[in-house]
Amino acid sequence: MNDLSVTKGNKTTLVCKKHGKYISETVTMNFLGTPKEIYQTCPMCEKEINELEKQIEQERAKRNAIKLWKAMNIEDKYFDSTLDDFDAYNDELRKYLYICQSFAKKPNGKLVMLGEHGNGKTHLAIGVLKLLGGVIYTAFEIGLMIRQSYGQGGKSEWEIFNELCSVPLLVIDEVEKLKDSEAKNHWMSHVIGKRYNRALPIILIANCHTQKDCKAKIKPCPKCLEYHLENDVLSRIIEDGIVMKFNSEDYREQIRKSRGL
Ligand SMILES: Nc1ncnc2c1ncn2[C@@H]1O[C@H](COP(=O)(O)OP(=O)(O)OP(=O)(O)O)[C@@H](O)[C@H]1O
Ligand SMILES: [Mg+2]
Ligand SMILES: [Zn+2]
Ligand SMILES: [Zn+2]
Repeated sequence: MNDLSVTKGNKTTLVCKKHGKYISETVTMNFLGTPKEIYQTCPMCEKEINELEKQIEQERAKRNAIKLWKAMNIEDKYFDSTLDDFDAYNDELRKYLYICQSFAKKPNGKLVMLGEHGNGKTHLAIGVLKLLGGVIYTAFEIGLMIRQSYGQGGKSEWEIFNELCSVPLLVIDEVEKLKDSEAKNHWMSHVIGKRYNRALPIILIANCHTQKDCKAKIKPCPKCLEYHLENDVLSRIIEDGIVMKFNSEDYREQIRKSRGL
């Protein structure tokens, strides 16, 4: 005789306090001649426990992702923004989504996103950033970090440059919003040059147009990219960058109109 023998197959009707009757397959374990019957737990309870565990796991994964996105300086508003959920509702946006998808697969050089409010520039850049890793800062934030580094404590200017020049992807948003053009062009020229030498990608975003496309009667026009960037920075960007000019509507307006509001 075996010390331990197991017999399966008997069906028993059991009652779960929560879900009522269910059929359990009874397993009889014979240990040193003493039989012991083991019953299956209620399949509905088991399903609920599995779902709860799945939910806990999803929440944990989301919490970890949020921690990561915060470290990448991604704002809460873009936590759900991905390339997959970008609504490419016209030919222009389909083309730009494709460029971003290709850039995420084979990141090299620069993407320059120019155009009006709400065209999805930051959304697309963050979609790429979440796939490649790295950081997003507005030009204003970088200027502020550099100025703060002159004081006590915090990161040194060297540490800031080192981060900007070595992360897998650097996104600089709102390039047009920094008034102090001398300081901006100084660090921007340095960062762009260093990343170029290291073959590391960069995305630059500006709520601007190029001088070539400018329709303003009064010059200089503060909506021209050339107004904000020095020539050497500009030539470094335009030279080998893919320039995407967004001419679609503000997405929220678009949604409102499509709903007839
Ligand atoms: N095509 C789109 N599909 C899905 N969501 C979009 C799309 N375009 C914009 N959005 C959403 O609309 C909001 C505004 O878009 P976003 O911030 O990317 O615009 P932007 O071009 O960067 O504008 P700004 O120049 O004002 O910074 C965001 O919440 C973004 O997720
Ligand atoms: Mg933006
Ligand atoms: Zn149950
Ligand atoms: Zn202009």
